[in-house]
Amino acid sequence: MGILDKHKAIETNATLLLILSFLVVTIGGLVQIVPLFYLDNTIEKVEGVRPYSPLELAGRDIYIREGCYVCHSQMIRPMRDEVERYGHYSLAAESQYDHPFQWGSKRTGPDLARVGGRYSDEWHVDHLRDPQSVVPESVMPKYGYLENRLIDPEYTADLLKTHAFVGVPYTDEMIENAAADFRAQIDPFGDYDGLIERYGDKVNVRNFDGQAGISEADALIAYLQMLGTLVDFSTFTPVASR
Ligand code: HEC
Repeated sequence: MGILDKHKAIETNATLLLILSFLVVTIGGLVQIVPLFYLDNTIEKVEGVRPYSPLELAGRDIYIREGCYVCHSQMIRPMRDEVERYGHYSLAAESQYDHPFQWGSKRTGPDLARVGGRYSDEWHVDHLRDPQSVVPESVMPKYGYLENRLIDPEYTADLLKTHAFVGVPYTDEMIENAAADFRAQIDPFGDYDGLIERYGDKVNVRNFDGQAGISEADALIAYLQMLGTLVDFSTFTPVASR
């Protein structure tokens, strides 16, 4: 009996084929998955990466609600054209507190992983209100209504708690002060020492949309302005080349 005849025995017996297929898939799965259990850490720890501040986290929720990810990715691939256009390629650690992550692959608009600090807050206000006013060929929709929708930080502590539940290291203190920190971030004349103490001195404290009250535009711009700014790439060296 040649090898092909043996194979015929398997192909003509559905039960045998199922059992053997199951075995093959199981072995393949184990080979891929088991080594991961023996790695201490699949994400390299990187200095500067921190959980989102309450205002940024609210902004991130608006980003998701509005479907910005339908046109924008947030992952710079380690290829020359990407790195020259957008900056240092994205590190796993930079999205380690993202639930859900916003990597994406659809780029009707540019990648936003390092858009923080690239434009002024005023530019973002104008751009959200009417993208064509600053980029005439833009196909991005208008989001001016975000300025008129005020957010009450009533559920901000719950939002932080939910993220803590899925593993983001928000402390009890951060959760207790969520509403206060939320308000503190748009008031440069107020007391924001606690916010800085909890989230670090890189947190932007500004009235992002330039208007009274905390609007959805404030939260969204706070989020956009911190994207990709946490890691200092002038001092960063990957573990592999240390
Ligand atoms: C229909 C697709 C589409 C959607 C949806 C969309 N954008 Fe855009 N976006 C674009 C395009 C195209 C550009 C490039 C032209 C421009 O700057 O307007 C752009 C540019 C941008 C830029 C400037 C990036 C840079 O590096 O110049 C930002 C910031 C931005 N979008 C944020 C957002 C946010 C926030 C949302 C959700 C509220 C959003 N976009 C939704 C298509 C989209």
